[in-house]
Parts: sequence; structure tokens; C-alpha cells
Amino acid sequence: MTEPVPARPPAAPPAAPPVAEAAGPSAAAYVLDEPSEMAMLRSFSNLGFNDANVRRGGADAAIADLARNKSPRILVVDVSGMPEPMAAINRLADVCNPATEVIVVGDRNDIVLYRDMKAAGVAEYFFKPLISTVVTRVLSTLAQGDKETRTRRTGKLVITLGVRGGVGTTTIATQLAWHLAEERQRRVLLLDLDLQSGDAAMQLDATPNHALREALEHPERVDDLFLERGITHVTERLDLFAALEPLSDMAAPSEEAVMQLLGTLTQRYRFVIIDLTTTAALQLPKLLHFANTVLLVSDSTLISVREVGRWRERIGPNSPDRTTLHVLNKQGADGSLPDDELARALVSRPDVSIPYDRTLAKTAMLGTKAIQAGGGVRRGLAVLERELAGVEGGEPKTSFWQKVFG
Ligand SMILES: Nc1ncnc2c1ncn2[C@@H]1O[C@H](COP(=O)(O)OP(=O)(O)O)[C@@H](O)[C@H]1O
Ligand SMILES: [Mg+2]
Repeated sequence: MTEPVPARPPAAPPAAPPVAEAAGPSAAAYVLDEPSEMAMLRSFSNLGFNDANVRRGGADAAIADLARNKSPRILVVDVSGMPEPMAAINRLADVCNPATEVIVVGDRNDIVLYRDMKAAGVAEYFFKPLISTVVTRVLSTLAQGDKETRTRRTGKLVITLGVRGGVGTTTIATQLAWHLAEERQRRVLLLDLDLQSGDAAMQLDATPNHALREALEHPERVDDLFLERGITHVTERLDLFAALEPLSDMAAPSEEAVMQLLGTLTQRYRFVIIDLTTTAALQLPKLLHFANTVLLVSDSTLISVREVGRWRERIGPNSPDRTTLHVLNKQGADGSLPDDELARALVSRPDVSIPYDRTLAKTAMLGTKAIQAGGGVRRGLAVLERELAGVEGGEPKTSFWQKVFG
């Protein structure tokens, strides 16, 4: 500790702890456009922050105000359009009380920036447009000041994203969900966001219904009773939320609705696993950034492994909050690349390899019986389950790579 020696002894008694110093308003937001202003006003009002201010302005306005006034407990700052947002955050840190939770809003969907912000102690980075329900949830967590407990209580969001149709994404998603629930005794929800396919339901011998569609059309109606009625209980701990809507009805769900629904679901389950197609992933660009783990599923054909690189690039590098893993499925199936060609086609080794399983291919129509039959898939996924349930249970993470690569 090398505290600078003050030029003269302070007249006042020793400084109060930081929290007491931050006796400013509960929150303040400095945002640059009207939709963001509206979203912030809505969030502050939902949270009952009656003394909170929303000002039209950016980081410089916030810095000027903070230099003169007491810091709020929560500060939201818009850095859109700034060529050097990190420099602005550092200047802000000079005038802001260290106990203030800072949320940054920006127009760059940039994972490197996100990581830098987090490393600098920023509580959250949102890129526009702001979704007031998501903002409200994050603000409410921060306002309770008990991030640790809340993080532990909120379930993990795992997205299985197939780089193409038919590579086995639904199989991986259902098997993972099943085993996390049945063998790891976690409460798991499998959410099939392909509203027209009903595939996940078929693999779990369950009947899709219209509740998911209703939930996405009216996310504000989703409460415990709605979920109790609309969600299918597959086993004691495994629930399924899936639809089989008419093919004529191909409208994509709104991103705001999906995020709001996920906000509700992750409070109720230890794991929410989403079975996602590339079409849906492109329609819901924020979703992948919201996940804790993205499982990029491919098979072993040239056309499929090529897509892995493209999707990795689109998702961006791993961050402390999100890991992308490549699951190479159906290894050794007809049409697979030989190992040496596969190694050349892939930029990095797959994180998990799952062999082609003839029994599974034959029993695919047998619903949950196929889950029991898929021994090869089971062994491959065991590594993933350990990673997911182990990390969630607080076990050390480093062992995962040793387990995979031995
Ligand atoms: N490892 C595997 N070995 C053999 N067959 C598999 C394997 N993984 C998936 N399958 C089969 O491939 C087909 C497509 O799987 P599915 O999970 O529906 O793919 P997707 O969701 O990517 O379209 C199914 O018949 C399934 O049983
Ligand atoms: Mg599928």
C-alpha cells in the first residue's frame, strides 16, 4: 500500500467507508438518445428509484456532474460514438466514488471492449438498443448489493447452436438436459426456440403446446402459474418449453420478448438450455452474448467444420462470462473428413468429440429410449456435464481441459 502522503494533515476525521460516502441519489443515467432515455426512465420507475435522474448527455456530462456532486449508487453512462470509450471510463473513475456501480451503454457490439470494461470494474456493458426489462433486472441485482448471492441463484444459460441443420444439435441439447437433470439432480429447462419444429419435444416423448408462443407474444404474462400450466414436465427435474406452430406462421419471436422470458426462466432453473438454429441465432443477435456457454455443434463434414470458424468469429472471443465450446458430433460417420484433414480444416481442436453412434441413429425415433441407447453421445457429454455442473457447483474450472485433452 503506497498511499500518497497528504501535504497537510486532514482537518476532518478519517474518511467514512465508501458506501456511506456515496450518499448521493440511488441512480443517475446519462444517455444520448431518446429510446435509451425512455428505457432508463422505465427501468428506474419499475425499481421505484424516485430520486434517480435521467439526463441527455454522455460520459463528459457525467464526468462534469460527478466532479461537482455526490456520486449516485448506480451510474449509467452512454459512450456511443466515442472513439476511445475506455479512456472516458478511466476519466470517469477519477471523479466517481469507488462504491458506485457503473453500467456502460454503447453502440459497439464488441466483446473485446466488453471484456476491457469488465476488467476495469464496470458492472455491465449494454449495447443499444437498451431493453428495459434486462436493464431493470441488472439494476435490481446491483441495487441489492449482493452480487455474489444473486449470481449463484441465477441459473446458467447454455445455448446449443448447430452450425447447420442435421448435425445433431437437438440430440446434444436433449441429452445434455436429460443427464444434467437425472444424473446431476439439477433443475433443468430445455427451451426449443424453433417454434415450428417440435424436434426437442419428439426426442423427449413430450407434446409441444402453444404456451411458448403465447409467452413470447406476451412476456409480461409469464408468471409461476403460467409456467406451471404451459411447461411440460418431462421428469421430476427436467422441464420442456416447446411449440409446434403451423409452418405458415414463421414470424421470428421478438428479441425483447425472448430476453424478458429468459430473465424469468433463469431465476427458476439451475440450467436453461436453448436449442437454437442458425436462422434463429441471426434473428436474435443479442442472445448469444447473453449465454454463459455456447456449444457450437458441427458434424465432421468439410462443409460443417468450415462453418465453425465463421460462427466463432461472429460470436467473438471467450470472456469471463461466456465460453464457446466446439462439439464435434458424428465423428466417423460416412462422409466425415479423415482426422488429418479435419485438423487442417479446423483452426483449433474441438473441445468435445462425439462418435457416430449407429444405435442412436437407428433409435432416433424412439424418444427417451434413444437417450438411454446413445452410449457414445453419453460418454462425450459426460465431460460437458462435469464442466457445467462442476463450475456451477463452485469446483475448480481448470481441470476441464485436462479431462478433455488428458
Ligand atoms: N452422434 C450421433 N450418432 C449417430 N446419430 C446421431 C448422432 N447425433 C445425432 N444423430 C442423429 O442425427 C439426426 C439429426 O439429429 P438432430 O439432433 O435432429 O439434428 P439437428 O437438431 O442438428 O437438426 C437424428 O436422426 C439423430 O438421431
Ligand atoms: Mg434440431
